[in-house]
Amino acid sequence: MMILVTGGAGYIGSHTCIALLEAGHTVIVADNLCNSKVETIDKIKQITNREIIFYHIDVTDQTAVDTIFLNHSIDGIIHFAALKAVGESVEEPLNYYCNNIVGTLILAKACEKFGVKRFVFSSSATVYGENEVPFVETMKLQPTTNPYGETKAMSERILTDIAKVNQEFSVSILRYFNPVGAHESGLIGEVPNGIPSNLMPYVTQVAKGKIKHLRVFGDDYSTLDGTGIRDYIHVMDLAEGHVAALNKLKAGVHVYNLGTGEGTSVLELIKAFEKANGVEIPFEIVDRRQGDIAECYADVSKAKQELNWTVKRGLVEMCRDAWRFEKNYRASDMLIKH
Ligand code: NAD
Ligand code: UFG
Repeated sequence: MMILVTGGAGYIGSHTCIALLEAGHTVIVADNLCNSKVETIDKIKQITNREIIFYHIDVTDQTAVDTIFLNHSIDGIIHFAALKAVGESVEEPLNYYCNNIVGTLILAKACEKFGVKRFVFSSSATVYGENEVPFVETMKLQPTTNPYGETKAMSERILTDIAKVNQEFSVSILRYFNPVGAHESGLIGEVPNGIPSNLMPYVTQVAKGKIKHLRVFGDDYSTLDGTGIRDYIHVMDLAEGHVAALNKLKAGVHVYNLGTGEGTSVLELIKAFEKANGVEIPFEIVDRRQGDIAECYADVSKAKQELNWTVKRGLVEMCRDAWRFEKNYRASDMLIKH
């Protein structure tokens, strides 16, 4: 199939491009590069030895989006393009609503106009809010505490309403848990802007000596060791989940959790990283971070049964691949500067 991947130069999008190309699909990427670099497209070509068509466009620009559909016979869309920093979304709600909601609307309109029936949407476990773990797709969603989360919940509702009246529209809503790690080549991975706010990129920068120590946000949660529990998933497993979702698309809206189904505490993740990579991660316990929940992990039985998808990689691979990319990326970064 010919698949339009919006946000395909970004972290999850780039890994999904690899999985799509390896599964034999043709890939068109649309990205405005607001949080990524065009070099990533070359790295994807290098890894897969396949071509990619790249459009440097903003998905909120209807004319630019229409041009892609006029130029190519698109079979389906995977819509990653969005702003994703939770804290920033509280500071700049208008930017987040405009970018994330308008992007979804413009792409859904293009589907209607050009008769495209397949749509895969990047959602987040954040839409569950503070629910009972494990999170199941049928749960009543709780209000999210930030505009970013709201854009995901709203986009889910928009796509659901469209599919109600357009009977042939097939939508797969994928709720990601905590994507970490990198492609095993070490050529592409997560490149956060400035000081990372997520745990794994922070840990890799501490390992590198770029940051002195990790701050563990709270050890007084009612969890096994008192630190927050999350469902970390290797980004290549997540990428392969998109190929599975695309292959199994059926009319209507179908929601799937993409996670491992297992919770890992912050302290467990630190230990796993140290063991996998033979490095030390100094840390100190500080106060809880505002807005954090104690536990977040998925019930993954629906994705297993209906998509015939399950994760292949564990914590060791997540930690090893994240570290390999961090070392490679910084090294090549320095080479470019000299
Ligand atoms: P990312 O920032 O690395 O990738 C997003 C890409 O979209 C970037 O390349 C950016 O340049 C592009 N983009 C943003 N707005 C655009 C626009 N208007 N037009 C064109 N391109 C645009 O983020 P990611 O981690 O790869 O996340 C991908 C998707 O997954 C997002 O929708 C995000 O909300 C969702 N998600 C991510 C996580 C996570 O922890 N990384 C968790 C749950 C859901
Ligand atoms: N943590 C620390 N120190 C840090 C960073 C994080 O102790 O420096 C802890 C957090 O308190 C939490 C865990 O590590 O217990 C994971 O935190 P992350 O920031 O890596 O991830 P979150 O679960 O808070 O949020 C992520 C994405 C959100 C998404 C959510 C659910 O950043 O966008 O997963 O999918 F909504």
